[in-house]
Amino acid sequence: MNESRPESMASFWMPFTNNRDFKAHPRLLVSAEGMYYKDVDGRSILDGTAGLWCVPCGHAQPKIVAAVREMVGQLDFAPTFQMGHPAAFDLAERLMEYTNHRYGHVFYTNSGSEAVDTALKIALAYHKARGDASRTRFIGRERGYHGVGFGGISVGGIAGNRKPYGVMLPGVDHLPHTHNLELNAYTRGEPEHGANLADELERIVSLHDASTIAAVIVEPVAGSTGVLIPPKGYLKRLRELCTKHGILLIFDEVITGFGRLTTPFAGDYFGVEPDMMTTAKGLTNGTIPMGAVFSKQFIHDAFMEAPAGIELFHGYTYSGHPVACAASLATLEVFKEQNILEHAAGMAEYWADAVHSLKGLPHVIDIRTIGLIAGIELAPIAGKPGVRAFTAFKKAFEDGILIRTTGDIIALSPPLVLEKKHIDELFGKLAEVLKNLD
Ligand SMILES: Cc1ncc(COP(=O)(O)O)c(C=O)c1O
Repeated sequence: MNESRPESMASFWMPFTNNRDFKAHPRLLVSAEGMYYKDVDGRSILDGTAGLWCVPCGHAQPKIVAAVREMVGQLDFAPTFQMGHPAAFDLAERLMEYTNHRYGHVFYTNSGSEAVDTALKIALAYHKARGDASRTRFIGRERGYHGVGFGGISVGGIAGNRKPYGVMLPGVDHLPHTHNLELNAYTRGEPEHGANLADELERIVSLHDASTIAAVIVEPVAGSTGVLIPPKGYLKRLRELCTKHGILLIFDEVITGFGRLTTPFAGDYFGVEPDMMTTAKGLTNGTIPMGAVFSKQFIHDAFMEAPAGIELFHGYTYSGHPVACAASLATLEVFKEQNILEHAAGMAEYWADAVHSLKGLPHVIDIRTIGLIAGIELAPIAGKPGVRAFTAFKKAFEDGILIRTTGDIIALSPPLVLEKKHIDELFGKLAEVLKNLD
């Protein structure tokens, strides 16, 4: 294992990174275990973000690591086009059990972005299979993040992810975002105000006609845009309107799936069932890349009524990769054996108390929490959006905690196995960072 600095950092074009700044002041992680990373200087870094929201069971989870080691030695690769291997089928069954059989089928991808593109394509093909081929529009939401495929950025609503790329998918419209600091600042759980924003879907439907709309896609809790929690009743209303108009509802559960809100999926937390869910990240505890689209039985049924032949012309070389399947099967076992959801639920109040204790520190203008997620919004420096929070991120890393920032919002999403002592360490150090921030 290489734990020393790379000879050169010139050639790696880093994703979503200020490459020049990073390479001048690198932050290099070399190993991880449980709640901590170790950096190249041998310092422990408490992981306040589960990597990128993707390590619910903690790092280097022994059972998952062992399962990956075993599978890579047994079956390094097997195609799933007109072929199969047992782990892909076993995992699909286990995943259906994990949803209490409320979903009928799962389609494997390698990432959240691919899961989103897959779900959008399934939505289009579903309507076409039913003779409803005019339903081709998608409705996303402002400030939504659905990965970086062309489908995902088209339905997504983060301007920076769209602007450089010109024309997107045609026929996409957006609901307004639900963030409202004036009415909803400092919330625990769902904010009071804003359920009426779901009614904007009626306006969009009357503009385009329901017969042209295939699907609505939203994150139940928007993460990458800075932790936007749905107002009370908002998701239920969206569900009602989609049902009323024959529009499929897709929840992008890439960050919220696998326990982030202390329930299997965010839909379970809010008591709202979408027709499809896109997932990734926690699916394999971040160990091996994998995504998955969960679909209701009726969607799959529509494809199976077609004349014999390939029912869905879609798939990835690595759909259902054996090593990813092994990682995911082990992850689900760890969830069960270690009662990860119950543990997370037991930590949620202590977590929320700790986050809200930061109220009143310099520059803090909002704090919002749900499950094991926190958003801490800072006032931007005039004319320099994002700089204040990014400075906090760098200082936090120097002080031994990994936080994540988007714009001027600090977003926290620790491994779900964290203990009170980790919460104390995280917010003790973060408070010091904020107190000393210009
Ligand atoms: C809600 C949501 N959807 C999709 C994605 C994209 O996932 P990936 O980066 O695995 O493509 C992300 C990533 O953060 C996400 O938060």
